[in-house]
Amino acid sequence: MELSQRKRRILADMGIPLWRARHARETGTSPEPAAEPMADPVAPEPHTGEPVAKPVVAPSATDWQALRDEVAACTACGELAASRRQTVFGVGDPAARWLFVGEAPGAEEDRRGEPFVGRAGQLLDNMLGALGLDRQTDVFIANILKCRPPNNRDPKPDEALACRGFLDRQIEAIAPEVIVALGRVPAHNLLGTDTPVGRLRGRTHEYRGIPLVVTWHPAYLLRSPREKAGAWEDLLRARDCLGAATPE
Ligand code: URA
Repeated sequence: MELSQRKRRILADMGIPLWRARHARETGTSPEPAAEPMADPVAPEPHTGEPVAKPVVAPSATDWQALRDEVAACTACGELAASRRQTVFGVGDPAARWLFVGEAPGAEEDRRGEPFVGRAGQLLDNMLGALGLDRQTDVFIANILKCRPPNNRDPKPDEALACRGFLDRQIEAIAPEVIVALGRVPAHNLLGTDTPVGRLRGRTHEYRGIPLVVTWHPAYLLRSPREKAGAWEDLLRARDCLGAATPE
C-alpha cells in the first residue's frame, strides 16, 4: 500500500518504524515504539477496539458557553489578567473521550486564543494523528492556566489554584474517559505530587475517578526526540484506559 505523505510525516514525528507497524498489522498487536525516531514509518490503524461510543451526554451548550464567558471575564490572578491578550479556554469536543492537559498558554496561544498552536502544538497534533485523533473533533485540549504567564515562566501555585476550579468544571462537563497530563506542571498539579515526570510515567494514575496518564510535554520532546518512543507508549497506555473510568 502506498503511504500518504501525511502518514509518513506523522509517524516519522512519533518515531514509529515501518517494520514494527507492519508486524503489528500482521499479528494484530500494538506497534511498539522505536528506541529512537526512524525514517519511513507507517501509521498504526486507528483504535477499533471496544468500547466505541462514549455513553455520556455532552454538556449543554448554554452551560459550556457560560463557563467560557466566566473564564474570559476572570481576573482572579491580577498579574496574568493584566498582561494577557485573551484567555485560552481550550479546544476540541466538549464531549470528547480524551482530555489532554498542558501547562499554560505561550505567546502564540495568547495571540490566537487556542492552546498548543506553536511548534509543540504541531507535534501534539501529529501525536494525535498517529492515534487517528483530531484536535477539533476527537479530544479536548486545555491547560492548567487559562492565561499566559509573562515570559513563559512556570505557573505560580496560587495562580494554578485560582484557575483550578475552571479546569475541574471542564473535566466535570466533559467527563473524559482518560486524562493525559502533558509534562511536569499538569502532572504535579493534578496529582498533588512533585515526583519527577520520568517516575510518574509508566503507570495509570487517577484524577477524580478518571484514569490519568502522564507523558512528556511536547516541547520537551522537541528538545529530546529520543523520548518520543516513550511518549508513544504513554499514549497507547492512555488509549487502553478508554472505557475504564470509575466515576464517583
Ligand atoms: N505549552 C502548553 O503547555 N500549553 C500550551 O497551550 C502551549 C504550550
